[in-house]
Amino acid sequence: MALLALAPPLAVPAATGIRCDFRCVAMAVASWRWRPDTTPQRAEFMSSEAAPAQIRPTAGKARTPAGKARPEAAKARPAPGNRVYNFNAGPSMMPLPVMEETREALADFAGLGAGVVEISHRSPEFLALVEESLTLLRELLEVPDHYRILLAHGGGQLQMSVVPFNLIAYRPARKALYVDSGLFAARALDIGTRYGYVHVPAHSRDSDYDRVPEIEPDMLDPEASYLYLCSNNTVMGTRFHTFPDTGALPLVADMTSEILSRRLDVSRFGVIFAGAQKNLAPAGLAVVIVREDLIGHALPTTPRIMNYAELAKDAHSLANTPTTLSLYMMCLLLRWIAAQGGVPEMERQAERRSGLLYDLIDASGGFYRGYVLPAHRATMNVTFTLPDDERLQRFLAEADRAGLYALKGHASRGGVRASIYNAMPMEGVELLADFMQDFQRRHG
Ligand SMILES: Cc1ncc(COP(=O)(O)O)c(C=O)c1O
Repeated sequence: MALLALAPPLAVPAATGIRCDFRCVAMAVASWRWRPDTTPQRAEFMSSEAAPAQIRPTAGKARTPAGKARPEAAKARPAPGNRVYNFNAGPSMMPLPVMEETREALADFAGLGAGVVEISHRSPEFLALVEESLTLLRELLEVPDHYRILLAHGGGQLQMSVVPFNLIAYRPARKALYVDSGLFAARALDIGTRYGYVHVPAHSRDSDYDRVPEIEPDMLDPEASYLYLCSNNTVMGTRFHTFPDTGALPLVADMTSEILSRRLDVSRFGVIFAGAQKNLAPAGLAVVIVREDLIGHALPTTPRIMNYAELAKDAHSLANTPTTLSLYMMCLLLRWIAAQGGVPEMERQAERRSGLLYDLIDASGGFYRGYVLPAHRATMNVTFTLPDDERLQRFLAEADRAGLYALKGHASRGGVRASIYNAMPMEGVELLADFMQDFQRRHG
């Protein structure tokens, strides 16, 4: 495993940047930053000998990348590479070396003179990347041999339809059990009702999703085709700390917001899926891990590229043109995780990061109030609120100015949400903790 991480295939030599020290990369690439005054509304490529090819504005007022002026906010850029600490829930922060190496590969990948998004997904160079990613995923997640790893389109919500298309007919009753633990679980169960009979054996709606529900053995209906749960509830900040033993009933888990952040016994699951945009890659890609005997039960109406059997036919899981940029960046990210020490190290760091924030919330005498019962707290999304809306708004605005970006809670919940996925350095969370203490001193 370690050897693989240290010795990437010759086809992708530029990968060495991933293992550079964070600060040294940051200094070497200080040119990486958004420049609001040059970001175009309409743009054209220009090149000159003095300056390499770049995008120049042709007209219009200066805009930020989001198209909205942020004149005061994010003035501070405390993170390596002159960046902010990005707490967005997804798309989310990526390691700077991954971003930098991608920037190089966009113009010239592996010395081909063509960018990674320009070459064929069936070229030997690209297939080497895909093979490496599949191997790394298998190793990092310790996926047993009788499971297939599939690369799919469309992120988390598309997979919510893919699951019933492929599995609802696994047993003749065409029935599925959905545990309702929050917004994305509820959405999945709503989607499931279009394909079969959906039962909800357990939910935590009555307590406004401040916990994940208990799943008792007598809830496991043997006639059901699967039991579905969302392992980490991104909006609420809860997670299943343990998973039920469902025996012969296939357990399906949406792990979009915590894949590769915790050790897992994959053999307990029938299907695990994850949209890429939090811990894997830029949005648009999903990874599906499916037990082999669950492949081949798709409804006849299943679209080809949503059918596990079609995806599994190809050794590289390339049933059509995939989202090549996401696949490329996932490979870099997986190498980065491997180089850091793999999933056990990601888990250790996740517990340290979230532990610091939860300890601070608990010690704040009620100034910061968590939404979630302590035993159900997530490590990836820390949610809390302040005594009143005025202080909440002030907190969010001041944090933004301090370079602590995108801390606003989900629209359905409000408050603060710090999404601290694998790429968030401890320094970012320490800065947030210092900010929180200082804010309480001034406004408590
Ligand atoms: C747990 C979970 N599942 C599914 C989704 C939906 O993913 P997508 O936006 O890729 O469809 C999200 C999005 O944040 C999520 O957090």
